[in-house]
Amino acid sequence: MRHEMTGNEMDYYSEGGIERHRYDVVVVGAGGAGLRAAIAAHEAGAETAIVCKSLLGKAHTVMAEGGIAAAMGNRWPEDNWEVHFRDTMRGGKMLNHWRMAQLHAQEAPERVMELEDWGALFDRTEDGLISQRDFGGHRYARLAHVGDRTGLEMIRTLQQRAVQVGIDVFMECTVTELLKDGQRVSGVFGYWRETGRFVAIEAPSVVLATGGIGKSFKVTSNSWEYTGDGHALALRAGASLINMEFVQFHPTGMVWPPSVKGLLVTESVRGDGGILRNSEGKRFMFDYIPEFFKAETADTEEEADRWYDDKKNNRRPPELLPRDEVARAINSEIKAGRGSPHGGVFLDIASRRDADYIRKRLPSMYHQFKELADVDITAEPMEIGPTCHYVMGGVEVDPDTQQSAVTGLYAAGEVSGGMHGSNRLGGNSLSDLLVFGRRAGEAAAAYAAGLAERPVVSDEDVRAGEWSAVAPFNVEGGDNPYTIQQDLQEAMNDLVGIIRTAEELEQALKTIQGLKERAATMGVTGHRQYNPGWHLALDLRNMLVVSEAIAKAALARRESRGGHTRDDFPMTDHEYWGTRNLVVRLDEAGTGVTLTEQSLPQMPDELKTYFEE
Ligand code: FUM
Repeated sequence: MRHEMTGNEMDYYSEGGIERHRYDVVVVGAGGAGLRAAIAAHEAGAETAIVCKSLLGKAHTVMAEGGIAAAMGNRWPEDNWEVHFRDTMRGGKMLNHWRMAQLHAQEAPERVMELEDWGALFDRTEDGLISQRDFGGHRYARLAHVGDRTGLEMIRTLQQRAVQVGIDVFMECTVTELLKDGQRVSGVFGYWRETGRFVAIEAPSVVLATGGIGKSFKVTSNSWEYTGDGHALALRAGASLINMEFVQFHPTGMVWPPSVKGLLVTESVRGDGGILRNSEGKRFMFDYIPEFFKAETADTEEEADRWYDDKKNNRRPPELLPRDEVARAINSEIKAGRGSPHGGVFLDIASRRDADYIRKRLPSMYHQFKELADVDITAEPMEIGPTCHYVMGGVEVDPDTQQSAVTGLYAAGEVSGGMHGSNRLGGNSLSDLLVFGRRAGEAAAAYAAGLAERPVVSDEDVRAGEWSAVAPFNVEGGDNPYTIQQDLQEAMNDLVGIIRTAEELEQALKTIQGLKERAATMGVTGHRQYNPGWHLALDLRNMLVVSEAIAKAALARRESRGGHTRDDFPMTDHEYWGTRNLVVRLDEAGTGVTLTEQSLPQMPDELKTYFEE
């Protein structure tokens, strides 16, 4: 949908001919968090617009296929927010912001019900309640789902509502700068991808909901949009990022054929009974179970299977350990030479469930493998391997309002940090973006409504935005953005991947420095009308600064925890690193990042009691 000008948005054109608009709240990004934030801001009375880089509806949210984690107690009446809170904190290895984890667990059920009121069609239990499925790290089956297309249904529902209530959408429009008036945000600057024409939108509140950074890695479930734009925009505006060393490699991405390498294979396959085997046919996850959780008696694989698959006694199949643990186990099997022909391992649901069940519960996976790999998952195992899926790190925000350190700048969803600590549990992303998207939208609207004087966008700032965006056209013969991107993705995959060492991280930082120098003189040819090389050149600035933040933080954290495993520091250091976060800021020159350590916020005593068990 192209943006249509409306009366109440007060469009006007500046003398310089740049398209300009004026709103109370601008939301950058139209995934689940962006849509939910925009709906909340609109409902609170704010003139609201969404700006999105891609087509409306094309968001990484759809890659959260398996469900929305919410303690509704439909399958297990014993479930409640306290258990969900504890699972989330434990999954994040206690580095989560306790207040975010608390709000998330408390509010998720209401957000799911609201989604149903808005038209989402969830699968049902035999009693007609919203069905809830098992996922790793969750004590009870608590993922409300729509087959294996939950993210898609969520986007469909939110998108329909946003359009229905009349929120303006600037589609295929990339934001390149956050504009400021003194210490306050004053709007955004960007360009229409099709025409290359610039646009400035004045707004006292900006909500970043740009998602993640996966495109900095070679093998990823993320598509081309996820270049860390919001992370980089926030840094450049003066906000801080936390937990950037923690990157989630989803254990199961496709490995074959090469054109779809990295594409997500939902955790629901394991949640619904799938198991992992190596090239010897062995169910290897039994070898990676933490000591405290080992079976009391299990002499055969069958006995072990029975012992672990016992929810009443709070036991879970080993394939449903948290994602970081499963991804590391798969990685070890492959490294030990027990991988599948195309460099993964086998995920087998065919031998565990009948064909009707598989097709009913996992329709997308059935079609995905049939059409893309010519594999019938009701009859044969899938070949899978880890894929970069999610970044736990993001903009440091106030847990109740999602406001960053910059006045008027908010962040929600994957671009924000703190909620998931060092590792996110599957299903907690969809609930996160509903809970905190709404909170961010409400807070952004309230702030804008309470202003005595709106910040203004100066013509100088708009000109500076223009100048910076066209800079790659003014270089003759410089490096090509595609080669820089390829070199970056390889370096991040090989040197900042699942298992890290100081030596490799130092090498990665050197490589990134070299790439930054090449990027400073990279050139693009042609003109501004739909020019993907130019778009990539602008995205690369963001990818490089975000990659530097990840590698620097990973080098500094000398322990292993969640989505950060150091081969040279394999232990989790509770005493020191268990008490602090790493905070990333832009350096004074504005060309790199600095790190500081910061104590974790103190959890109130009444919440601490949940961890005494
Ligand atoms: O495996 C999945 O369906 C992904 C879910 C998530 O990342 O939350």
